Amino acid sequence: MLRDTSVLMDEKRVFKPNYQLVEDAHVKNWEAELEKGKDLEKYWSEKAEQFEWFEKWDKVLDESNKPFYKWFVNGKINLAYNAVDRWISTDKRNQVAILYVNERGEEKKLTYYELYREVNKMANALKNLGIKKGDTVSTYLPMCPELLISLLACTKIGAIHSVVYSGLSVGAFVERMNDARAKVLITADGTYRRGKIIDLKKIADEAILQCPTIETIVVVNHTGQAIEISDLSGREIFYERLIEGESDECAPEKMDAEDPLFILYTSGSTGKPKGVLHTTGGYMVGVATTLRNVFDVHNGDLWWCTGDIGWITGHSYVIYGPLLLGTTTLVYEGAPDYPDPGIWWRIVEKYGVTKFYTAPTAIRHLMRFGNKYPNIYNLSSLKILGSVGEPINPEAWMWYYKNVGKEKTPIMDTWWQTETGMHMIAPLPVAPLKPGSATRPLPGIDAEIIDENGNQVPLGKGGYLIIKKPWPAMFRTLYEDEERFLDVYWKSLPGGVYRAGDVARKDEDGYLWIQGRSDDVLKIAGHRVGTSEVESAFVAHSAVAEAAVIGKSDPIKGQVIKAFLILKEGYKMNTALIEDLKKHVRYELGPVAVLGEIEQVEKLPKTRSGKIMRRILRAQEEGDDLGDTSTLEE
Ligand code: PRX
Repeated sequence: MLRDTSVLMDEKRVFKPNYQLVEDAHVKNWEAELEKGKDLEKYWSEKAEQFEWFEKWDKVLDESNKPFYKWFVNGKINLAYNAVDRWISTDKRNQVAILYVNERGEEKKLTYYELYREVNKMANALKNLGIKKGDTVSTYLPMCPELLISLLACTKIGAIHSVVYSGLSVGAFVERMNDARAKVLITADGTYRRGKIIDLKKIADEAILQCPTIETIVVVNHTGQAIEISDLSGREIFYERLIEGESDECAPEKMDAEDPLFILYTSGSTGKPKGVLHTTGGYMVGVATTLRNVFDVHNGDLWWCTGDIGWITGHSYVIYGPLLLGTTTLVYEGAPDYPDPGIWWRIVEKYGVTKFYTAPTAIRHLMRFGNKYPNIYNLSSLKILGSVGEPINPEAWMWYYKNVGKEKTPIMDTWWQTETGMHMIAPLPVAPLKPGSATRPLPGIDAEIIDENGNQVPLGKGGYLIIKKPWPAMFRTLYEDEERFLDVYWKSLPGGVYRAGDVARKDEDGYLWIQGRSDDVLKIAGHRVGTSEVESAFVAHSAVAEAAVIGKSDPIKGQVIKAFLILKEGYKMNTALIEDLKKHVRYELGPVAVLGEIEQVEKLPKTRSGKIMRRILRAQEEGDDLGDTSTLEE
């Protein structure tokens, strides 16, 4: 559902850059940098030079087989080596790489040297489990140091990682694990959430029964719940025991720049989740460059991205980006409002966080508690704030700017996607800001807004957001589903351009205003949920014959789910059934699928070919014009 962003477009406030920041910024002149970015190969090869390659590339960009672009052709590199090993011989050796903090106030620090040793031990242990280059390892872990270590260990030996977000439950877990054909699963006894421990192992145990490819299950004893060795089955082993006695040296696998790095599942309009496949060299260059420029990362920064590693934000900007830049990344396990809504600001004060990156839904949630909490703490260490995941409404932007940033720190509203791997549309610290706009495409990115015929739309008019030229961190395909990759992203609009799936407008300054998705993907608290996934969860319930779901606007979560259900003969909608349906969907998909309303209906609007017309349901729900109904069956 598209939100009405006319209010966004009416937003006329402009916030000038903070000149103190600009003085030290990596990029001091926005226009000049945008100009440099026009020579794609030169721009990105200069960025790539900053890393240690085993063998340099022959060609920066190969466009001979569009849209199967290749970056840094024949370059040989290892990402974990560049994110960790490289720092061991510098004065960053004993600097904290990972600062883990949880809602109980516990902390754990790992210096680059300590991280190096831990990654190597885990890498060797994975090898001993038979994991080789190209094999897939899945994780179902909380935000804990072992998650970062495990992913880096995979990267070091060339294994492909596939993270399953720990907020997903059995159904979603099984689907992802089986699609990726993971050989090893790394999970934990539990995760802390609002004073409780959520038993991840129990969910994993149940899911695993349906995952035939898993050979070994590694269990991190994270919360110290009483799991005894005797509780473990023959193919399960504790993480601690697994790495015991392993050498803390491990040679990095020489990876081709185009070798797969990870698969990350995300929701689309139809069918099963899409396995977005990222590769090594381009991803590394894109992620590090954008973090460095957009958030202007320098020595001495303490970087905190609140995104979960279960999503792309965590992959790119909790682990890889910050470590590739040799900064300290704060990893937080817990909710933004527990034990009280001041917890994030208390952490900022305590550790002196300098750059802080979160989602609009979290800001809106914290806004509910008023100005009190951010004003209790000293937030003067903050220099730059960020936003990601959905459009930030000007009201939330202003609250964030005033109360957290004290009107001194710019807000980097970054537009990007699981598929893009890196920030695409975002300001730099030198940019004047308009609340609600992600500003302009980054240097090296060519984005435009077009209509269905491929024509550029006039300023101020909504259209499809597209990317016209390749970028290094772009996904290379959907895992084992090339056809869908081509159909969804590259063939559905004319001109061989990348279709982002969003609708946006451009203003007279060239600033882009993202309105929302143009497909049947919901954004619930920043999480991407496919309507069809929720519908198939519903119809798996014994009472449901047919289901259609749409997104309904929600002041905090952006959207929640509204479901229209046709029940099977003999079932009646009542409170008990509603509760049971909610429980069922939660079991299948996890708490990300936030259900707003459930309504029983006799019929669903369908096309003659039987496709549900959610557009009609949305229009009815919002009291809008039904639009073109010529394809409607009846
Ligand atoms: O609709 C856009 C929205 O999130 C979608 C991508 O979701 P996902 O792959 O889960 O990645 C989220 C984190 C990168 C986009 O198609 N979106 C993301 N960032 C913004 C945004 N919408 C508006 N403004 C943003 N800054």
